[in-house]
Amino acid sequence: MKHTKVKDLLNSTTTLQEVNAKGWVRTFRNNQFIALNDGSTINNIQCVVDFENTPDETLKRITTGAAVSVIGTLIESKGAGQKYEIQVNKLEILGDSDAEKFPIQPKNKPSLDFLRENAHLRVRTNMFGAIMRVRSVLSFAVHNYFQSKGFVYVNTPIITGSDAEGAGEMFKVTALPFDNTPRTEDGKVNYKEDFFEKETNLTVSGQLEGETYAMALGQIYTFGPTFRAENSNTSRHLAEFWMIEPEVAFNNLDDNMDLAEDFIQYVIKYALDNCQDDLKFLEGRLLDEEKSKPQAERSEMALLEKLNFVLENNFKRVSYTEAIDILRDSTPNKKKKFQYLINEWGADLQSEHERYLVEKHFKCPVILFDYPANIKAFYMRLNDNTEPGRETVRAMDILFPGIGEIVGGSEREERYDVLIEKMKALEIDEEELSWYLDTRRFGSATHAGFGLGFERLVLFVTGMTNIRDVIPFPRTPGNAEF
Ligand code: 4AD
Ligand code: MG
Repeated sequence: MKHTKVKDLLNSTTTLQEVNAKGWVRTFRNNQFIALNDGSTINNIQCVVDFENTPDETLKRITTGAAVSVIGTLIESKGAGQKYEIQVNKLEILGDSDAEKFPIQPKNKPSLDFLRENAHLRVRTNMFGAIMRVRSVLSFAVHNYFQSKGFVYVNTPIITGSDAEGAGEMFKVTALPFDNTPRTEDGKVNYKEDFFEKETNLTVSGQLEGETYAMALGQIYTFGPTFRAENSNTSRHLAEFWMIEPEVAFNNLDDNMDLAEDFIQYVIKYALDNCQDDLKFLEGRLLDEEKSKPQAERSEMALLEKLNFVLENNFKRVSYTEAIDILRDSTPNKKKKFQYLINEWGADLQSEHERYLVEKHFKCPVILFDYPANIKAFYMRLNDNTEPGRETVRAMDILFPGIGEIVGGSEREERYDVLIEKMKALEIDEEELSWYLDTRRFGSATHAGFGLGFERLVLFVTGMTNIRDVIPFPRTPGNAEF
């Protein structure tokens, strides 16, 4: 007989004569009650074992983590907390789990650190089951949003020759041997002898290739893995993360902000509508976690309230120049509480400043725009009429409470001459990016796009605080297990 998912059993509208459920034992109480979970929902189904007619041998093998199949009757539950339960007639142990050795024991309340070391098993906990289901629903929402608006999904290359961000934070890709590496006459590595006959790396962003597609298909988006060899061992950085990058021909920076805001609100709403049980559970988890923190460090809003707040309120749009004025006059700046003090226009904003603006000053998501040209990437459009020495570009960053930067984007420099000037100044190889420059040589037009770090979105929606806990197998400096 075919087995039925626990979620469907719990949502049944009637009792059922004979059902089969398969899953993993979460707990086994009083030699009688199995809490069975199969991953289809955060909720377990209670399976009541007729212990008097079940051999002791079998009862002993019903341990946390074991895989079992039960056949029985779906009846209305007498116990509180669930509508239905299974009165078991036949129980089969599919796979034993040694209670002494299985590391995920609910009684022990394993720490997040311990669970990270057991990332292959942590998904068997309620918390990680919930996070990963929410992550999956959010990725579906991303595609839904763009597909319903007629965007074309583009798979940009993972191995590339270019550094899209110009920050030099790339992982090299090579098939050359480390001993006896082929060298040129002047002693440099001879990439002509490498697999691709040139230097290559893992992509830091699909934007540049994405732009070429937007300049033909109009509206495109990418959604794929990106890699950064930046040595930032923080709770917001991964070496391998997933990024969503829409790019739209004929959009300017205002259109770009509108798109980003609408997109983020859509995916959050989608999660609220489709992950109610998981989000409620995660809200409870967060409340629990925060009980151990001093009152001042606790969030002002519970998780669902915070998500709804983002849906119901416009993001505050603030220019970099206004933000600098606010920061310069802020209490932590005057009292020298910031690690990096804001003294003058042109300073790069650190996460402490971003979080001050969002969490203390505006108390809502903020879009900062028109940044100084020299702290941003080469492809961003230079603003018309900016003061010499105070040039700004049409850049925007979206800052979220508890997260900091969640989106980075810009209107692109569509003027060939201006772009070439900029590349020369930054010593970016024109030859290497000749294909990119073709978009400006042939039929150039205003266009804009942004990148949203998918894990930072999942962090926000799940209320988790460490980015290592919202991707199945995190890659960070010093860690590439699994
Ligand atoms: O601001 P970034 O570097 O922008 C770009 O890559 C542009 N090419 C995007 C575009 O305009 N198409 O990165 C975009 C977002 C950040 O706002 C952040 O959310 C996320 O990607 N991000 C990271 N997430 C996790 N770990 C890291 N190391 C990240 N670096 C960036
Ligand atoms: Mg950025």
